[in-house]
Amino acid sequence: KTVTRDEATGAVTVAGLDVRALAEQFGTPAYILDEEDFRSRCRAWQQAFSHLDADVYYAGKAFLSRAVVRWLHEEGLNVDVCSGGELTVALSAGMPPERIAFHGNNKTRAELEYAVKAGIGHVVVDSFEELVRLAWAADQQGVRQKILLRVTVGVEAHTHEFIATAHEDQKFGFSLTGGQAAEAVRRALTLDGVELVGIHSHIGSQIFDMAGFEVAARRVVGLLAEVKREHGVELPEIDLGGGLGIAYTSDDDPREPQEIATALTEIVRRECAAEGLAIPRLSVEPGRAIVGPSAFTLYEVGTIKPLEGLRTYVSVDGGMSDNIRTALYDAEYSVALVSRASDAEPMLSRVVGKHCESGDIVVRDAFLPDDLAPGDLLAVPATGAYCRSMASNYNHALRPPVVAVRDGQARVVVRRETEEDLLRLDVG
Ligand code: LLP
Repeated sequence: KTVTRDEATGAVTVAGLDVRALAEQFGTPAYILDEEDFRSRCRAWQQAFSHLDADVYYAGKAFLSRAVVRWLHEEGLNVDVCSGGELTVALSAGMPPERIAFHGNNKTRAELEYAVKAGIGHVVVDSFEELVRLAWAADQQGVRQKILLRVTVGVEAHTHEFIATAHEDQKFGFSLTGGQAAEAVRRALTLDGVELVGIHSHIGSQIFDMAGFEVAARRVVGLLAEVKREHGVELPEIDLGGGLGIAYTSDDDPREPQEIATALTEIVRRECAAEGLAIPRLSVEPGRAIVGPSAFTLYEVGTIKPLEGLRTYVSVDGGMSDNIRTALYDAEYSVALVSRASDAEPMLSRVVGKHCESGDIVVRDAFLPDDLAPGDLLAVPATGAYCRSMASNYNHALRPPVVAVRDGQARVVVRRETEEDLLRLDVG
């Protein structure tokens, strides 16, 4: 970590830069993205899987920009995209198309044609309709598109309902237990436009318990065995998705990439040996676990409203438009005063935004010093994943910039929106 705090003065620096100077130069709110931290986590994932025949795909949905794509490329990672927009960003920053995988439960015809034309490595097929559309698009272009089939392994991931994806009653993938997965394999093997190379599973997000991943790995290998028995084909790849959780508060105790690598490879090796299969090439798709801890959001305090016997509402200059996760998933964050030292008494606070609804909460419960004043700067850590990427223009808020810092240098990699940006889209 390149964040330091001088206890005497309260000065907080990141990559050698004082956050007060960053706020002065780039304004607030702003996402401050620590490039070295991001890269070191890329390396940790690469290293954890380096002794295997394995690929790490960064899940672009967590946060994607051209700078990030260049870092990923330099660190040897691949990227997974889930829309034509993400694909464009990845390609335009020079990610080789064969190192891109394309996800999604309802990719449009146009997106599929675009992906095939671009020559991307894998399309992860999610439905029977898509199988047909993709085979057609590939036929039209005279190519054979490599695909994985996404299966639903029937695991109840212990995470928020909205981000669990492998139980039966949700929209993703082909059900393993319902026989859809076997049927999808059968159809895929008959289509000339696609080359079925493997099976994909993603069980959900912000997961700490390895058990779900292990069950998924076992069931995916089970399907490979079934495919071999039925069709005499050994599929050479499996992709076990992303989902490893990170620490948002000190209560969270996340697993390291090395631990998930060890757990997955042990299971895959054991199950393959039991089934008489060759070990397939393994992919994983971490998003949050790479970028989440690499950024924090810097806000300025605007108003402070003590409610007798309840708590103090501290309003900052952003809110649910730059971090929807608290409102959407009851996500927990921490917050710290970063513009000065204070030894004032702790005050039970709720950090809220400037939007027109009371669910506009950034940090539900926090203790901040009771001498907090307008103009103070607050930092909310671990906002690198699913904050800028899910940011909105609600109330015509201007989405904050992403400022990358490294070795005492700061540069804007995604600029702050302006009112001209809003008006440019409003053509009426
Ligand atoms: N692979 C697939 C197919 C996915 O759907 C996802 C996330 C990932 C990989 C990366 O998962 P990660 O390693 O980042 O957990 N907006 C929610 C998270 C939604 C995740 C969607 N899929 C949130 O803010 O918590």
